[in-house]
Amino acid sequence: LARQAGELLRLGHENGASLVHTKQSTVDLVTETDLASERLIIDALRREYPDHAIYGEESGDVLPSSGPVWVIDPLDGTTNFAHGFPVFSVSIALLVDSQPVLGVIRDPLRDDSFWAERGQGAWRNGQRMQVSSTAELGRSLLATGFAYDRATNPDNNLAEFSYFMPKTRGVRRAGSAALDMAWVACGWLDGYWERGINVWDAAAAVVMIREAGGLAMSYSGQPWRPGDRNMLASNGVQTMHDALVTGLRSARAGLPSLT
Ligand code: IPD
Ligand code: CA
Ligand code: CA
Repeated sequence: LARQAGELLRLGHENGASLVHTKQSTVDLVTETDLASERLIIDALRREYPDHAIYGEESGDVLPSSGPVWVIDPLDGTTNFAHGFPVFSVSIALLVDSQPVLGVIRDPLRDDSFWAERGQGAWRNGQRMQVSSTAELGRSLLATGFAYDRATNPDNNLAEFSYFMPKTRGVRRAGSAALDMAWVACGWLDGYWERGINVWDAAAAVVMIREAGGLAMSYSGQPWRPGDRNMLASNGVQTMHDALVTGLRSARAGLPSLT
């Protein structure tokens, strides 16, 4: 299903035909392809699992807290997609009683499929995924993202970005949170943080990061749970994770503490 939806994205990217609308502001976009991808995924899941709840970014209302719930980001990286910038993905997760148990992320342009199941491991195109072993911030490559309210909210991640950028080998802002996290799971990146994310951005990737040996936590230091609006993910190497926690804390001094 993620492959099929990914193909829709790939074709949309090639044809450049998707209509763009704004959501709450001129930077928060939705395209015809977001909607078509979500429709395709929801219709197929409904046929296959008529008893399961489904929560998609473009049509979800209230996230059910019990039972099986499919959580969908039909196009993660809409801003990139709308501009033709070739980084975007499809993310599908299954929560059971609010626990992420299954995750699939499809990158249609690199023909990459990432998936993981709780207790069963994490895979990229059939190969087991493992996080990196980088132990120091000075040798790390990180990723982050900036929420759509960044122009109006002073808690806009620029303090954190300024802190980490000079202390690392680099901080990427590729524009698809799901891929940022999948890339932590497969070891291409050593860590990722972001404020303002939603359950559909993170749920699939969390399963992958954990199954690949990494940590997916909220800024509060607790394991990430659906409903948490921020994420600190790392390769789980203690010194690396501690450096990220300390860095975030120090960069965020004076900013509201977030759960
Ligand atoms: C966005 C992307 C982006 C992240 C934003 C997300 P969307 O998702 O993942 O990288 O920085 O926080 O909202 O809107 O393209 O699905
Ligand atoms: Ca998203
Ligand atoms: Ca999206």
